[in-house]
Amino acid sequence: MKSYNIAVIAGDGIGPEVTSSAVEVLKATASKCGFELNFDERLFGGASIDAYGEPLTEETLAVCKASDAVLLGAVGGPKWDKVDPSIRPEKGLLNIRKGMGLYSNLRPALMFEELAAASPLKNISAIDILIVRELTGGIYFGERGRKESDEILPDGTPKGIVAYDVESYSVGEITRIVRQGFTYAQGRNKKLTVVDKANVLESSRMWREITESLKPEYPDVEVDYLYVDNASMQLIARPSSFDVIVTSNIFGDILSDEAGQITGSIGMLPSASLGAPGTPGLYEPVHGSAPDIAGTGKANPLATILSAAMLLRWSLNEVKAADMIENAVRKVLADGYRTVDILGNSSDSSLKVVDTTKMTEAVIARL
Ligand code: IPM
Ligand code: MG
Repeated sequence: MKSYNIAVIAGDGIGPEVTSSAVEVLKATASKCGFELNFDERLFGGASIDAYGEPLTEETLAVCKASDAVLLGAVGGPKWDKVDPSIRPEKGLLNIRKGMGLYSNLRPALMFEELAAASPLKNISAIDILIVRELTGGIYFGERGRKESDEILPDGTPKGIVAYDVESYSVGEITRIVRQGFTYAQGRNKKLTVVDKANVLESSRMWREITESLKPEYPDVEVDYLYVDNASMQLIARPSSFDVIVTSNIFGDILSDEAGQITGSIGMLPSASLGAPGTPGLYEPVHGSAPDIAGTGKANPLATILSAAMLLRWSLNEVKAADMIENAVRKVLADGYRTVDILGNSSDSSLKVVDTTKMTEAVIARL
C-alpha cells in the first residue's frame, strides 16, 4: 500500500480544531482510496513559543522538510502580541515559508454556488480566481530596521527615528513566479492579470518588463496589468472576469483576503505554498487563528478540509482522493449545512447551522 508522511503543525487559536477536522477527513479518504497516511504532529507558532521559546524549532522545520507534505492550521493571538518581533508566531510562518523554499502561494478564490447568499456582492454568478502570490520575497523579507535621522521636515518638524521595510525583488524571483502565473493560466481560462503599482514603484516596473519579455513564450495567454488600488476595485466590480492573478507578497496578502470575502467567507478558502518540483508543499487555510472564537466550536473547518484536498492533489498526486473531498464539501453545502460564518443573511429555514464537529462529520459521511 502506498504510504505518505504528513507533518501537521496546527498552531494556535482555532488552528488545532480545524486541522484535526482535516486530519479526520484525510484518514477517512485514505482508507476509501487505499493509501496510508502517517501524521507527525508538531507544535508551531505561539504554542511552540510557550513550549520551546521560539515559534518554529529547527527540529520541526526538519520534520516538515522531510515530509511528503505539511498541513498547517493558523498562528498567533493576543497572548503573543508583546513577544519580541524576532520570535513572534508570525515569524515562525515566515521562517517555514523561507526555510522550505515555498515561493509560490496559490490562493484559489472559488465561490460555491450554494454560498452566493453569503457573498456581500449582489447578482454575481460565478467567481473562480486563482491568486498566485509570491511568498518568499518583497517587503516581507527585505531589509528592515530603525535609524536615527537628524533631518528636519519642510514644516520644521524633526524627523527623529526612521523605521523602514524595503520592497526588493530580483529578476530571478519575479521570473519564476510570473512563469507560474502563465502556466496556471494555460491550464485554466488563459487570462493572466499582473497586479502591481508600476505608476510608483521601481520593483513593479520590473515585474511588468519581465512579464512582457515572457509573454511570447505563452502566446495562448491574454495578459493585462492592473495597479493594486484599481485591482481592489475591479475585484468587486467585475469579479467573474478574473482568471489568474499574479502578484507580489504584500499585494497578494491583501487581495487574497478581499477575494476571500467576496466568495462568501474567508472560512472557505484553502491555500497551497509550493517550492521547487519534488519538494514538500505546505497547505493551510487563508484565515487566521481567530482567537475570539477558539474553543467555541464555531470555526468553519472547510477551508482546512479543502486545503487537505489541495495537499492530496498537488503534493501526493492522489487526484481521485482530492476530488472525493471537494465533491463531499460541495454536497454538504448543497445539503444545507452551514457554519455561522457562511450563513450570510440567508433566511432559508431549511439550512442546518452546525458546529465544527458536525460539519466535519457531514463531510466524512459524504465522501
Ligand atoms: C497570510 C497571513 C500571514 C501573511 C501573516 C499571519 C504573517 O496574513 O498568510 O495571509 O501576511 O502572510
Ligand atoms: Mg493574509
